[in-house]
Amino acid sequence: MGTNRRYEAIADWYTELIRARAARRPDIFELIGDVVSQRVCDLACGEGLIARHLAERGARVVGVDISRRLLAHARSIQQTSGITYVQDDAQGLAALRDAVFDGVTCNLALMDIADLDATAAAVYRVLRPGGWFVFSVVHPICAPEAGFVLQRDGTLA
Ligand SMILES: C[S@@+](CC[C@H](N)C(=O)[O-])C[C@H]1O[C@@H](n2cnc3c(N)ncnc32)[C@H](O)[C@@H]1O
Repeated sequence: MGTNRRYEAIADWYTELIRARAARRPDIFELIGDVVSQRVCDLACGEGLIARHLAERGARVVGVDISRRLLAHARSIQQTSGITYVQDDAQGLAALRDAVFDGVTCNLALMDIADLDATAAAVYRVLRPGGWFVFSVVHPICAPEAGFVLQRDGTLA
């Protein structure tokens, strides 16, 4: 199943999960500095958690995601002004013009996107020269085939 359809299928559940944890400040903010008055693209924005955080900190935000249903959830929240949501594929960002963003964020999504070269090229294209890109990915221990090993001393590794 393609990524788009995978997220469409779990969009309601995923939105509920994220919003139940919304009080927790996403770790990615440790890496992002001052965004006041900056134009920021939140790539693979999902239901909009990071986009909302950025807008609350004074950024003008474009949230991009491939899932129509997650974008509908994102738009359904009465938000501070300054966020526009766009449906697009991160592997091309055809809807976005060149060199328009000061920064791009991508929280916990690159591991879901098949063509990383195309995604990196698209991010580079939409950033202004000297712009920044901050992303986080899931730790490899969360991969489906990963697990814990019981060691001889009884501890887990
Ligand atoms: C684990 S969720 C993370 C969502 C959001 N960044 C967050 O922090 O809650 C991964 C997101 O990547 C999006 N996605 C997957 N493939 C994509 C693609 N090719 N282009 C744009 N978004 C994509 C999914 O629709 C989903 O919203």
